[in-house]
Amino acid sequence: MEARGNAPSLQSVLADAASVRERSRGRLIDRGLDPDHTIGDAESGGAIDIATFYEIIGATSATEKAGQSPTHALARLALQAGLPSEVADTLFLAYNQQSAEEAGHGDKVFANAYFRMGGAAPSGDLSAVGEGGDAARFLQPSEDPRENKRRLGSFAAVLGGIETFALQQVFPRLMSLCEHWNHPIGRDLVRQIHDVVRPEESRHVLIWRYVFHQLIAPKAPTVIDAFMQGTNAGRTQFGGAALDRETLERMLGTHSPTPRQLLGKDRVFDS
Ligand SMILES: [Fe+2]
Ligand SMILES: [Fe+2]
Repeated sequence: MEARGNAPSLQSVLADAASVRERSRGRLIDRGLDPDHTIGDAESGGAIDIATFYEIIGATSATEKAGQSPTHALARLALQAGLPSEVADTLFLAYNQQSAEEAGHGDKVFANAYFRMGGAAPSGDLSAVGEGGDAARFLQPSEDPRENKRRLGSFAAVLGGIETFALQQVFPRLMSLCEHWNHPIGRDLVRQIHDVVRPEESRHVLIWRYVFHQLIAPKAPTVIDAFMQGTNAGRTQFGGAALDRETLERMLGTHSPTPRQLLGKDRVFDS
């Protein structure tokens, strides 16, 4: 890529990254944590030490928190998408609940662990998806209910892809790193991921299934294909693997979850 006039040079980017790393190490040491202590292996090779784990927790916190505003916007978009009133009401309640839960994962779970490790709040720019404002603007309702419904369906697909990847890969991986660390902060994080984050994320995946069955499944094969492609786009955006058609169909199931399951009022016994 050609360097642009005011783009920072590679050297200054590397120097910034090194000074951020040094600051993080200093904070960890101040709190009695050894930044070089290894707690796992990276998929790309090499080791994951506490300094790297600290960065991962900061990025997870900011990325979860970034989910708050687009899901808040989706809840409102669902009311302007010409949907049957039961579906619109269900999506409004479910996305509002999801919005509050994503903020909780970001702030209460991961930002608190990050704070306990280094005595500083994670910055929003650690997020892997920006701070969520662009997505929320894309989800502002237009005058045309059909266009709103299209935006809702396409965003729900991408979001579902992210949620499935987080649930199947990111959280199990974080829990395994915490278990190897065997420190009170890590043990606390495992407990919160197990008790709070994963059950809530499972319901977020249910919203994806609900949107599919209510809005997409009755449509033409091209619409169904686009939903599946959107799901895989969400997964690959975070480095996850795209899923084949058969796996996606199995995960979407043969029928819609009920509104009560979406809101966590009835338990789901998954196939
Ligand atoms: Fe979350
Ligand atoms: Fe989620």
